[in-house]
Amino acid sequence: MGVMNDPLTNDLFPQALLPVTLQGPADLEGFRRAARALLAQHMLPEQVSWHSSDAPVQDLFASGIAGAVAATTAIHKAAFNDAPPVSVPPEFVSLCETAILHSDPNRFGLLYRILWRLVHEPGLRHDPLDADRVKAQQMAQAVRRDMHKMKAFVRFRSVQDETFRNHPEGGPLHVAWFEPEHHIVEAIAPFFARRFTQMRWAVLTPERSIQWDGAQLSFGPGASKRDAPPPDAGEKLWLTYYEHIFNPARLKMKMMQKEMPRKYWHNLPEAALITPLAAGAHARSARMVDEVAAGPKRRLPDIKVLPVTMAADEDSPVRSLPALRELTNHCRECTIGACATQAVCGEGPLQARLMFVGEQPGDQEDLQGRPFVGPAGQLLDRALDELGIQRGQVFVSNAVKHFKYELRGQRRIHKTPTQREAAACQHWLDDEIAMVQPGLLVALGATAARSLLGRAVPVLANRGQVFERDDGRKVLVTLHPSALLRLPAEEREAAYAAWLADLSVLTLASV
Ligand code: URA
Repeated sequence: MGVMNDPLTNDLFPQALLPVTLQGPADLEGFRRAARALLAQHMLPEQVSWHSSDAPVQDLFASGIAGAVAATTAIHKAAFNDAPPVSVPPEFVSLCETAILHSDPNRFGLLYRILWRLVHEPGLRHDPLDADRVKAQQMAQAVRRDMHKMKAFVRFRSVQDETFRNHPEGGPLHVAWFEPEHHIVEAIAPFFARRFTQMRWAVLTPERSIQWDGAQLSFGPGASKRDAPPPDAGEKLWLTYYEHIFNPARLKMKMMQKEMPRKYWHNLPEAALITPLAAGAHARSARMVDEVAAGPKRRLPDIKVLPVTMAADEDSPVRSLPALRELTNHCRECTIGACATQAVCGEGPLQARLMFVGEQPGDQEDLQGRPFVGPAGQLLDRALDELGIQRGQVFVSNAVKHFKYELRGQRRIHKTPTQREAAACQHWLDDEIAMVQPGLLVALGATAARSLLGRAVPVLANRGQVFERDDGRKVLVTLHPSALLRLPAEEREAAYAAWLADLSVLTLASV
């Protein structure tokens, strides 16, 4: 071990690591202050041992230097409070915010090492494949995945507590039990507060509990599963609903277990139904095939063919999204528009730095008039969530603005647009790019890649690569999410992980 620069500490404990104890497992502020102070005192990463107040420093006590903990912490306390700020890339700040929630006890040491290296090795910020950076990214990704699962799998049960008995108009208290893998409870609480603003609720976990009284969040100690209430009538209704929506013909057991891993089943009421429903799936599926088909639920749109082409005048570029939508809606520069319900233009903030471009709207998008709201959109949303990118912050669009399909019976089956059709739509996409001015474009699939780069780009051979357009804009090429949805279930998760790896450039790139 190297020699500490603090002479007092060094004289007292020549061989001791400097122990730094944070207040709780997710003490970002404490970590930030300590890291700054350590940097200011030139403490090498290997000279520091990190602890959080939930993880007692037993090894240090065992080695007979218990006093060192208090002594060194006191010595450095003053320095911790007024160390100068350190300038680091913003991506590192957001990486810290997420990775620090990981349950790995070495996370603080890793993050301090990266910080130290960012300051002393300028090349590190340009090396996204550095082992420390990759490790921290993986931790952040695991944390985001845990948050995603908690959002999806928390199940509330209602309790008629004291407050309810005194004021029944306020509604019962809803209580849920969940076992996160990482220290995510406080970070995720605002999500539940926004999502369930109108009800009173509590989420109990082994480490922390959260309460929302309808106006304010509060946190308490951990709980045990026994503290959570037993099943209620609402749960019976939910189970009946689940049983009804269960479609035996679409049962993909492996896929289901990937999405809803078995470790969560013991806290999910509907999981008790999975085994019996799955066992009967084959027979139910066969009965469904024999049943007479029901009539269509959706009316096909009236076809209106406008006699004139309405395109933006070249000299007066369209300046607002509503104006663009209006013009695109009437576009008949190719034949697709006449059969679609409406045009589907891009959506998202005009200040977005990231713009995703797909192929063309699908059935759901055509009906709702919004891009990526169907199954492909859900997969895109999942990936964004896991990458820590909010959908509301990115602009999402398509190379072709109308849904091209062929009718098979009552169903509208997606048909890939021809090059000519995509070329006819090109100027609408260009208008969107001109309005948004994104720092980075993401081409989802071959049609988008061709429209954005002006030439055919074999997607499989070039996935994960960033190309530069003639106008200097960068384009990341990757698969279209529908390509993943078309794969056999057993291949889908691996393909999804590879897709996520392509997209993880987005969290590393400062766009
Ligand atoms: N596929 C796309 O390419 N775009 C959408 O909006 C939906 C599905």
